[in-house]
Amino acid sequence: MEMYEINEVFTPTKPARANFVKRKVLDKRVGRALKTPGMQLVLYGHSGSGKTTLLLNKLKELELSFLKTNCTSNMSFDDLLSNVYVNLDKELSTKEIDKNDQEGGGGLGIPKVFSFNSKSTVGSTLEKSFVSAYDSIELSLAKAIGENDALWVIEDFHKLQTSVKEKLSQLMKVFMDLSDEFPKLKIVAIGAKNTAREVVELDCEMQTRVSEIHVPLMSDEEISRIINNGAELLNISVITHVVNDVVEHSHGVASICHQLCLLMCEFADIEGTDAFCSDIELDFPHFNYAATEYIEQVSDTLKSAFQKAVKVDNSYEILACLASGDIEGVEVVEILEHINEHTDSVELSIEELKESLKLLSSTEYGSVLFYVEVSEKYSFKDPFYKMFGKLFLSAFSSGKKKKSKAEIFTLFNKLIDKAKSNYTNSDNSITPTESYFDEDNALLENKWKKSEPKIERKVHDNHNEKKKDL
Ligand SMILES: Nc1ncnc2c1ncn2[C@@H]1O[C@H](COP(=O)(O)OP(=O)(O)OP(=O)(O)O)[C@@H](O)[C@H]1O
Ligand SMILES: [Mg+2]
Repeated sequence: MEMYEINEVFTPTKPARANFVKRKVLDKRVGRALKTPGMQLVLYGHSGSGKTTLLLNKLKELELSFLKTNCTSNMSFDDLLSNVYVNLDKELSTKEIDKNDQEGGGGLGIPKVFSFNSKSTVGSTLEKSFVSAYDSIELSLAKAIGENDALWVIEDFHKLQTSVKEKLSQLMKVFMDLSDEFPKLKIVAIGAKNTAREVVELDCEMQTRVSEIHVPLMSDEEISRIINNGAELLNISVITHVVNDVVEHSHGVASICHQLCLLMCEFADIEGTDAFCSDIELDFPHFNYAATEYIEQVSDTLKSAFQKAVKVDNSYEILACLASGDIEGVEVVEILEHINEHTDSVELSIEELKESLKLLSSTEYGSVLFYVEVSEKYSFKDPFYKMFGKLFLSAFSSGKKKKSKAEIFTLFNKLIDKAKSNYTNSDNSITPTESYFDEDNALLENKWKKSEPKIERKVHDNHNEKKKDL
């Protein structure tokens, strides 16, 4: 029996390795793009959908070496090139690259990895030479990577300024043109959902030379494989109902699944593979502990996210609509219909609504929502956000007086306690109830169900009052 430590099996904050679940179709597509000489690759998708994990595991499997750059918003094109050059130069000059170097590879043991930070460390002489011999630097940089049988991974491409992205798109062409000479040479850009469109739109010549691969959030089946594989590696079992609960609470986000599993194992004092075959089984108490602890861990994030979200126009109406809708999300037109049907104020236009939805999905306003591209629906970031959203709206609908900052702070703390009590007071029944609001729209049930009914048409009539209350 192979022995694993718990942190090797459930990895909420690093790319999965031992417990990596292969996603067949994606794996095939990424493999194909990596193996096609000259084909540039853009991996895009929701944060936490598994882009980095997928790529790193595939690079390892194909034994491909790579350089990795993590982008930041203030990075110039010169910064980007300088960093590659300097680090490549530094790494290569030592000629002592550990075959099992794990840095930047997330512990994957990729053959050759050169990793560096986005901050420019280049010296002034070198920097000058970059700028003065601009074109040849691009070419020689591509050649230098190619000569070392490596490819270039650019993480967080979406953070770069448009002008930098534009130049990178053009640089992809340089890489492509060198593919005859260096078949493995390519750029792999990883980014948020608009990354692919940006690369292609910025330079239409790239359209057929870029493989754009969308990495969606995980399916229920994939999430349950993480749980079951993990249990197998640890030689323990998880009861089916708990597997279902973890799947439901993860909402396709693998890191939540890893985190909940890790916490369940903590409750069971599991530190690694059970060599004694003690028949450990993860059951409801383990799940309840994990959910409670998870809420505690993310409580500050939840509080701050909702504090930011309520600054957005129509946020109450939108959040109330989504809180009563399906966890899988609600279409924009449905949200619009719902709001206009249930508020007395001036009719909301689709443009206004779209703008508010966009803001509620942005980091600046707490990103409590996200857009599910496949289904074209907006939903809460995850079920924990949805639960908090319901509690939050209920609490604000119950008082009419404007709340001070201190009162809001106390209220948020109470809401967190209430969210946790969903699990601590649980009777271990896993059948969630379906109704959330009583006739006055103020009473909430503690749990939710994936297959909730569509938006209840009779929801908040008192949105405007609530808005004033804050
Ligand atoms: N195929 C997989 N099998 C098992 N766990 C996975 C898989 N893919 C991702 N995970 C887990 O999900 C979490 C997020 O993965 P990852 O960091 O790769 O996502 P990402 O899309 O790169 O996110 P971001 O956009 O924020 O960088 C990690 O905890 C990782 O271990
Ligand atoms: Mg990533």
